[in-house]
Amino acid sequence: MGIALALFATQSGTGDLTGNWVSRTDRHDGTTRDVFFNLKQDNGKLTGSIRLTQFFYKISDSTITPDGFTIVGSMMDGKSERKVTYQGKLVGDELHLSTRNRPDAPLIELVAKRTTPEDGAMPERVPPPALHKVADNGLARTPPMGWNSWNKFAGRVTAEDVRGMADVIASNGMKEAGYVYVNIDDTWEGAKRDAQGNITTNTKFPDMKALADYVHSKGLKIGIYSSPGPNTCAGYEGSYGHEEQDAKTYAAWGIDYLKYDWCGARNLYTDEEMQAVYQKMGDALQKSGRPIVYSLCQYGRNDVWKWGPDVGGNLWRTTGDIRDAWESMTRIGFAQDVLAQYAKVGHWNDPDMLEIGNGGMSDDEYRTHMSLWSILAAPLLAGNDLRAMTPAIKDILLNKEVIAIDQDKDGKQGKRVAQAGDQEVWARPLAGGAQAVALFNRGAQAAKVTVKWADVGLTSPPKQARDLWAHKDVTLTGAEYTVDVPSHGVVLLRVGK
Ligand code: GLA
Repeated sequence: MGIALALFATQSGTGDLTGNWVSRTDRHDGTTRDVFFNLKQDNGKLTGSIRLTQFFYKISDSTITPDGFTIVGSMMDGKSERKVTYQGKLVGDELHLSTRNRPDAPLIELVAKRTTPEDGAMPERVPPPALHKVADNGLARTPPMGWNSWNKFAGRVTAEDVRGMADVIASNGMKEAGYVYVNIDDTWEGAKRDAQGNITTNTKFPDMKALADYVHSKGLKIGIYSSPGPNTCAGYEGSYGHEEQDAKTYAAWGIDYLKYDWCGARNLYTDEEMQAVYQKMGDALQKSGRPIVYSLCQYGRNDVWKWGPDVGGNLWRTTGDIRDAWESMTRIGFAQDVLAQYAKVGHWNDPDMLEIGNGGMSDDEYRTHMSLWSILAAPLLAGNDLRAMTPAIKDILLNKEVIAIDQDKDGKQGKRVAQAGDQEVWARPLAGGAQAVALFNRGAQAAKVTVKWADVGLTSPPKQARDLWAHKDVTLTGAEYTVDVPSHGVVLLRVGK
């Protein structure tokens, strides 16, 4: 039968495709990246599902020809539909498939083999709990500061990198400047839970407790990452159905910070159910008995700023992922104005982590990034390789006068107070009646930018300001102040006490 089927298959490219198929790619960390094709062939059509990383698609369309087949998978992600298309053929007892992430992206080829029917099956949906208020954990009284692995290292981060970052933070002045959390993002998780259902680590992170002890020995704190879904965004094991167990594991390891990323939860819950789903981990963290900062990451969906504090959240992402590009950073940063009222001591808007030093922007652009995030009372999580910083980048991340704006104890987020074309003036009220005033030039040419003190709410014009990048006092006269600002640059002032 094998020979007959193989002959038929090579000739037709099809044969009977019914069954559960998996393509496994070795990630070289003791885990595999799996793509499941659960197919049912009937009357010249294919139905079933496609599952990969954080996505679970139902097959919504298919064609079968003598040369092979095409399947289209579709899923709802919040209010929008996601689609994926695979072309394939049966070759012997393998499925040879190809797809593209976008129509103009390179072809991705994969080979799938038959697997057991239950392999890769989606778990059953656990109904979300009834809503209640999770008590404030008393942490993050100022926006969290530290480092996170994702922007620079993505899936390549190792325990050695994390130790290396802790070493640098503890020795180059960053710790004294307030950078405390050393945060591991996605891709630390092991392939399978153990027999008791405990989360495990992969070979890049051989001993999480030892790593946490090491980071603590440097006087720093350590953060970790998970998802309320069965899978994280990179397709690793999530906390779904193990929330309390995982929170206990984190506490036992000595974890101080959790970033909890929606990812695979999108296949089981609607956006309207997010609050209940996040509340579950908020409760679990509090029950764990260890103070753990709770960072919500669901890309600013479902007005998270309105309920983030109620689930015990200390910060919540307000947007999709930042990229190391002027366009991405400014599109995110300059759109945060409308959320100012939601930032409070202990509960922060998070316009995503810093890209400073990753190489895709100029130093002026990175100064704009740092200034804007400080005006926004945003978390300052460096996202670069701290072991290899230019002096200019170090000066940007370590500018204590700018950090003092970000960390102002009143925790009021700044706002845009004036705009003229590419020029914007933002102001942030500070404790004791002072103000941070940022004069931004988003244009392609150097420009003079003016702040009118009345726009900042200062009825009697100030006589003096501190220029926080030049580290100089500036003498002021009159009702406004005009200054040269480089293209894509900023002048950041502290006015008043
Ligand atoms: C999402 C998050 C990112 C990062 C990745 C990890 O895209 O928004 O910040 O955590 O997942 O897979």
